[in-house]
Amino acid sequence: MAAPWLVLLLLAAPGAVQGSGCRAGARGAAAEGCGPTGLLLEHSFETDDSVHFRKRGSLTWNVQDGTITLTQRQLTEDERGRLRDVAALNGLYRVRVPRKPGAAEGLAAAGHVSSFVPACSLVESHLSDRLTLHVDVAGNVVGLSVVTEPGGCRGHEVEDVDLELFNTTVQLQPPLTAPG
Ligand SMILES: *[C@@H]1O[C@H](CO)[C@@H](O)[C@H](O)[C@H]1NC(C)=O
Repeated sequence: MAAPWLVLLLLAAPGAVQGSGCRAGARGAAAEGCGPTGLLLEHSFETDDSVHFRKRGSLTWNVQDGTITLTQRQLTEDERGRLRDVAALNGLYRVRVPRKPGAAEGLAAAGHVSSFVPACSLVESHLSDRLTLHVDVAGNVVGLSVVTEPGGCRGHEVEDVDLELFNTTVQLQPPLTAPG
């Protein structure tokens, strides 16, 4: 008596999964009409110049209307101190995002794109930076750039309160159309 029910449930399950929408495919979730898709933004700044990425914030890319938003938390006292130390050592501040938005962690094999600025320029800009995500038509991230505003290091004193909150502009750079 129980067997027919079991068969029905097994048949129903794959349909339900597909119906719920978005799975990251070979071409990237963003291209598949899935609506907003998330990307983890990570950063790394270490006094020994090793690379140790940790979460900085979450990007939400809405492919339909071509917008991207970022939510990020403030730096902890430890992080502010470490960023100052790295800046004093002329070290680097690195950022990265995954190539395939929305991919489950198991699919993160596609890797990341990353970029960096001198940590001192991030400190002297009071954490004011501009992130540009270069994307392709399939909805993958093919490049990332970061600049601080203003850029460069002049040796200015920076108050601790100026290192609490990021002041970030995020933009999408779609593929450039070929000339002609
Ligand atoms: C935020 O960054 C912009 C440049 O992108 C700058 O003009 C503005 O002064 C910054 N605001 C703060 C509070 O640092």
